[in-house]
This record gives sequence, structure tokens and C-alpha cells, in this order.
Amino acid sequence: MAATGVSKEVNVGELDGRTAIVTGGATLIGRGVVSALRTAGASVAVADIDEEGGRSLGDEVLFRPTDIRADAEIAALVDETVSRFGGIDILVNLACSYVDEGFGSPREDWLESLNVNVASAVMMARAVHPHMQNRGGGACAAPDRLGRTTDPAPGRRAGR
Ligand SMILES: NC(=O)c1ccc[n+]([C@@H]2O[C@H](COP(=O)([O-])OP(=O)(O)OC[C@H]3O[C@@H](n4cnc5c(N)ncnc54)[C@H](O)[C@@H]3O)[C@@H](O)[C@H]2O)c1
Repeated sequence: MAATGVSKEVNVGELDGRTAIVTGGATLIGRGVVSALRTAGASVAVADIDEEGGRSLGDEVLFRPTDIRADAEIAALVDETVSRFGGIDILVNLACSYVDEGFGSPREDWLESLNVNVASAVMMARAVHPHMQNRGGGACAAPDRLGRTTDPAPGRRAGR
């Protein structure tokens, strides 16, 4: 059954019992993804540096201020998510940096952009990987940057 106000592809209850982490979940696109996951029945944790936006997601969403450029902050978020929800099935990497002057960008802008948009997304995937393996599988999505949704471990699918 499609939920009112969200994509027709969201099926209510399809992700019951699953847990998702959404990076960059505090702003517009991220909030839409969080809402869709919640509608589908998933428990959701959000990693973002936007504390005001993150806290406004409400008590049912686990928000922890997290700079995904910092491995210790990623680890703390993952630990808290597992502690509260019991595991991790889905990672949606949406946090991004638009520091970009195109061809005119200096090296530090390229490195910052690659750090947030690529390296940190991979570090997130590495951090959740053992927890997805514990569940028998999972799904990582990085729309528009790292390619298509991938299964970090074969077997049970958490959703796409
Ligand atoms: N805007 C578009 O038209 C568009 C189109 C296709 C895909 N996308 C993808 O959707 C995603 C979100 O795009 P958007 O336009 O909503 O971006 P946005 O800039 O509005 O949101 C990015 C979020 O990432 C957070 N963030 C930035 N650096 C962070 C860090 N170091 N640690 C944790 N959080 C951090 C920001 O606080 C913000 O909440 C991106 O992955 C983008 O590639 C966007």
C-alpha cells in the first residue's frame, strides 16, 4: 500500500524491524528519505553536522551530531544506533559538500570535497559493514555519487 504524501514506491511496513542510518538526513532531501524510511517501518538514525535540523527530526529518530570526516564520530554513531535499535540493515549516504569552483577549485577544495563526498561515505560503509554481516546482509545507497545501491554482503536484502 502506498503511503500518502511520499513516493508510491514506499510500502508501509516493508521495512518493519529494519534499521537505517542516513547521513545528511537533516536537510531537505535527507528529511524526505528519513520520512520515507519511517513510513516503510524502519528505525532511523541520522548523522549530520546540522544540529538544529537534526534535532527537529523528533524523538523517534535517533539524531547524533556527527561529522562523517571523523572516524571516532562515525564509530560513536554506529555504536549508539546498534545500542538503541539492535543492529543496522541500511545505510544511505546523503551528506555532501558543494565546495566547488569547478576547474578553478584549489587543491584544498578538491580534497575537502573528496573527503566528504567519497572517503567519508566509504568509511561509513566500512563502519556499518560488520553489523550488516551480523544481520546476514544489508544495503548501502549513495545516490548520485558512488554509483548504485550495493549489497555489502550477499544474502538477506534489507531493501533498496
Ligand atoms: N540537490 C540536488 O539537486 C540533488 C540531486 C541528486 C542527488 N543529490 C544528492 O542528494 C544528497 C543531498 O543533497 P542536498 O542538495 O540535499 O545537499 P544539502 O547540502 O542540502 O545537504 C547535505 C547535508 O549533508 C550535511 N553534511 C555536510 N557535511 C557533512 C559532514 N562532514 N558530516 C555530516 N553531515 C554533513 C549537511 O549538514 C546537510 O544536512 C547528496 O548526496 C547529493 O549528491 C542532490
